[in-house]
Amino acid sequence: MKHLAAPLMRTKLGNLELAYPTLMGSGCYGSGEEYAPFVDLAKIGGVVLKSVTRHPRLGNPTPRLVQTPGGMLNAIGLQNPGIDFYLEHEVRKFAERPCAVIGSVAGFSVDDYAYVTERLAARDEIDAIEVNISCPNVASEGETFACDPGLTAQVVRAARAATAKTLIVKLSPNVTDIAAIAREAEAAGADALAVVNTVRGMSIDVDRWAPRLGNVTGGLSGPAIRPIAVLAVYEVARAVSIPIVGQGGIETVRDALEFFLAGASAISIGTANFTDPRIPVRIVSELEDYLRARALGSVHDLVGKANVGFRSPGEYEGDAG
Ligand SMILES: Cc1cc2nc3c(=O)[nH]c(=O)nc-3n(C[C@H](O)[C@H](O)[C@H](O)COP(=O)(O)O)c2cc1C
Repeated sequence: MKHLAAPLMRTKLGNLELAYPTLMGSGCYGSGEEYAPFVDLAKIGGVVLKSVTRHPRLGNPTPRLVQTPGGMLNAIGLQNPGIDFYLEHEVRKFAERPCAVIGSVAGFSVDDYAYVTERLAARDEIDAIEVNISCPNVASEGETFACDPGLTAQVVRAARAATAKTLIVKLSPNVTDIAAIAREAEAAGADALAVVNTVRGMSIDVDRWAPRLGNVTGGLSGPAIRPIAVLAVYEVARAVSIPIVGQGGIETVRDALEFFLAGASAISIGTANFTDPRIPVRIVSELEDYLRARALGSVHDLVGKANVGFRSPGEYEGDAG
């Protein structure tokens, strides 16, 4: 990976330096090569690759995507060729990328995470590892790793022991107290946190009287989840001192700014790439204009600047309308 001189925009996740604070979300950007005809990949911070598992997975029954107001439901089911095929045929494509390449690891046991992390991170083409912990644990009745502080800690410790490269842990918004999970991930050795993955959802076809997704339920992404994601970043930023990659419905520079001001040091763009692959480069250019117009020396001058705290318990009467 080459680093470009863009001091205004530079950011760091663990020991991974990014020329631009924009990543492309896992599962939304292929390996990057599909977008190369439309986008100068040197102008994006990095690509997070589709999550890979120990064994090949065919994914869920179709339909796997449903459009919803302001967003999209997906239930791909982690379709991927498995780590053996991936290492043999896919990873070498990433050697010449002009941006960071972050491998994404998924699994169904603590051992899966350790095994896949170790094998993927051993490759020079991979600059860092993101751990997608929104998967069910077969050893505890399918409880999602990301929804339990103890399981989160176990997975992160195992992945941490498997690599010295930057370890990003991707949190789920489908929890009551995301700050508690974030603290566990930090204590277990995460270098950065990706906040957040998709929000659980469902859509029903009222003509067929049946769920629209083959898998019945799925993960909601896009602008519909942005306020949920901004709140999650805000809460996590107050709970940990490692950097945060904010994501969830970012389509414009003003969306991105919300995440920086809430406490993110970088952002990730997923679903927006499906509507217009030029969005990430536009956001970078407009972010640069925004910083210059305000005579700010770095994107870090924005991070967490909307942190006004929460009201004290005596004053707080809940958020319900
Ligand atoms: C079609 C699709 C596939 C996805 N696949 C993965 C995946 O394999 N691993 C993962 O960690 N996140 C996956 N995600 C989640 C995104 O990376 C991102 O965190 C989420 O969609 C929120 O950001 P967005 O609103 O910008 O898309 C997927 C999202 C979509 C829409």
